[in-house]
Amino acid sequence: MKKLASILLCSLLGALAASTALAAGDPGAQITRPPGYQPKAGDVALGEKLFNDTKLSTNGMSCASCHANHGAFQVSFAKPYPHTVAMARDQFGRKTVHLDEMVQGCMVMPMAAKPLPWDSKELAALTAYTASLQKTFKPSK
Ligand code: HEC
Repeated sequence: MKKLASILLCSLLGALAASTALAAGDPGAQITRPPGYQPKAGDVALGEKLFNDTKLSTNGMSCASCHANHGAFQVSFAKPYPHTVAMARDQFGRKTVHLDEMVQGCMVMPMAAKPLPWDSKELAALTAYTASLQKTFKPSK
């Protein structure tokens, strides 16, 4: 009986530790729109420039390294936002994302950089340019 109690206590403490760790470092927080966030209209031409700019990342990549000619976009990209994106779900625990949140997700993960400031013209521009790519995207299946 004593053994069972200690096993129970151990698993309880384990679960507690795991949930505290999650609360302390919610991986989705950095790509989640801040409260009251109002997306602004972005400059598509600036967005295209930034999309090709390797200075945005810390690893020599630009968005275009992966996404030129609609590369790396999955079928989900054809759907209106918010929708589920596998990377956002698996890496950031986010069930659905807005387009600007996905831009932030790619800034953090594949670009190994910090999220852009939410009120920046850079985020608005990249979001506007990516939205323009979405219009001509045809999933292959
Ligand atoms: C190293 C490759 C890589 C780089 C660099 C990269 N991405 Fe991505 N991105 C991906 C992959 C892979 C996915 C698909 C994730 C999925 O469907 O699970 C994706 C998904 C996306 C999506 C969501 C598509 C959807 O299904 O809704 C957007 C938007 C996006 N990227 C924008 C960007 C932007 C903007 C940049 C530059 C700041 C960028 N990406 C840089 C690999 C990359």
